[in-house]
Amino acid sequence: MKLQEEIERRRTFAIVSHPDAGKTTLTEKFLLFGGAINVAGAVKSNKIKKTATSDFMEIEKQRGISVATSVMGFEYGGKKINILDTPGHQDFAEDTFRTLTAADSVIIVVDAAKGVEAQTRKLMNVCRMRKTPVMVFVNKMDRPAQDPFELLDEIERELEIHVHPLSWPIGMGSDFRGVYNRFDQTFRSFKGISKQTIGELVEYTDLKDPKFRKHIAPHEDRLDEELELIEGVYPDFVQADYLDGKTAPLFFGSALNNFGVRDILDCFVQVAPSPGPVETETRVVKPDEGKLSGFVFKIHANMDPKHRDRLAFIKIASGKFERNKGYTHVRSGRQVKFSSPTSFMAEKKSVIDVAYPGDIVGVHDTGTFKIGDSVTEGEKIRFNGIPSFSPELFRYVENADPMKFKQLARGLEQLMDEGVAQLFVSVANGRKIIGTVGALQFDVIQYRLEHEYGAKCRYEQFSMYKACWIETDHLEKLKDFRLRKYQQLATDKEGREVYMAESAYNLQMAQDKFPEIKFHFNSEF
Ligand code: G4P
Repeated sequence: MKLQEEIERRRTFAIVSHPDAGKTTLTEKFLLFGGAINVAGAVKSNKIKKTATSDFMEIEKQRGISVATSVMGFEYGGKKINILDTPGHQDFAEDTFRTLTAADSVIIVVDAAKGVEAQTRKLMNVCRMRKTPVMVFVNKMDRPAQDPFELLDEIERELEIHVHPLSWPIGMGSDFRGVYNRFDQTFRSFKGISKQTIGELVEYTDLKDPKFRKHIAPHEDRLDEELELIEGVYPDFVQADYLDGKTAPLFFGSALNNFGVRDILDCFVQVAPSPGPVETETRVVKPDEGKLSGFVFKIHANMDPKHRDRLAFIKIASGKFERNKGYTHVRSGRQVKFSSPTSFMAEKKSVIDVAYPGDIVGVHDTGTFKIGDSVTEGEKIRFNGIPSFSPELFRYVENADPMKFKQLARGLEQLMDEGVAQLFVSVANGRKIIGTVGALQFDVIQYRLEHEYGAKCRYEQFSMYKACWIETDHLEKLKDFRLRKYQQLATDKEGREVYMAESAYNLQMAQDKFPEIKFHFNSEF
């Protein structure tokens, strides 16, 4: 197959949701429909169990187990699908944000009873920023749910995107009969009592078919009315609007009961984008360029302290990746060769010989890679769009074992390269500050420093509201700002200037007082 054909048949996307909305269940059902697994429940997901929320070791163990399911590939409808799993736990939100940089599109799962929740809103902001095409799956229609029309309003309002319902629910809760697919004008349901398998397909294409009307009774008249109404408000689905990130096709369903799952999957393989051009600092890289390029968006540490190797995940942006071929690690300028690159099919990890744009390749890493690094055939390019987000929790970090100064410095540096947290240095006193999105990371860092690097750290409270990157052309103003905010200034690991606001009020004051200075909430502006 030619490179172009390989590119066109790839669909790399991330499934995201607020914890518990049904991301894991939907992922498993996709794998079931794709024939990649036979029984649901077999895939250990990236999900961090509720019971373990305060037990970070347990969480780290689960994260270790979940390496294999970070990416799940399978074939469906002639397409090669790569699902990027994202950690559901909100303390690992930064991981999820970064995973989105490797996704060519996103499916957002929303709980039909709870509607749009906090985490989903944040994730949508990232999609909007990157203009990533988004589809929505409204899950759990088999449970008492909000009125579908109200849900559409809420999703449009909260996610700030137009939605286009391509399926419509028939009944809900215990009276839920399934969904009518407006995209291919078919009603489908699957008979069977097991929730772990698919069951026998029941399909109707004629809305007037008496058998169909009996199947959905007593909702038949209501369905006619609602479909007419929907038709009036949402006439034609325009694929270009979806690809531009302006409209989100929306499907109702129940992942647990297989309703609506094949509907969204079938539509997805038809309309979702294959890998597109990627911006770098110097030029736009097109996937069909002959030469290989890719970037690291995730690094997963081995949880076994005796083997401190890591797995770096590279998203291929252009060209063909080949095993044992020499490539350039752009940041260091070093030549690298991968003798056992891995790819992921369903829950299995296997060594591959080639990979194409859209694919995710896992490579063994002994400390060479950092998040955002690029690999090429020699060209010095740096991909845009792997930003750090403003952390909201901060602590001073101190060495607790004077004999292990070097180990601490090295451990901190490597953990930051992995993207576990962000390290800042205070301009005023030179002290190191760790900034995170979730409180758990502090425990994780302390534990890992001790067990993987033999170093001990101590934290000291440092109460700040937010760190933001500052930028201006007005040097005089900047001087003035630096003078006045000296105590709140820090540098990030790249040496960029960061303002640590003590409160939302202080940030607002600073913004009002220094309109010439821009305050950015992610490191790529
Ligand atoms: P997450 O990855 O987004 O966190 O959610 P997950 O799929 O784990 O689903 C969360 C809970 O919701 C699970 O129940 C799951 O079985 C249930 N669920 C998912 N989809 C549906 C659906 O369409 N209808 C109904 N009624 N429930 C659904 P749990 O009790 O937390 O876990 P489990 O013991 O069933 O695994």
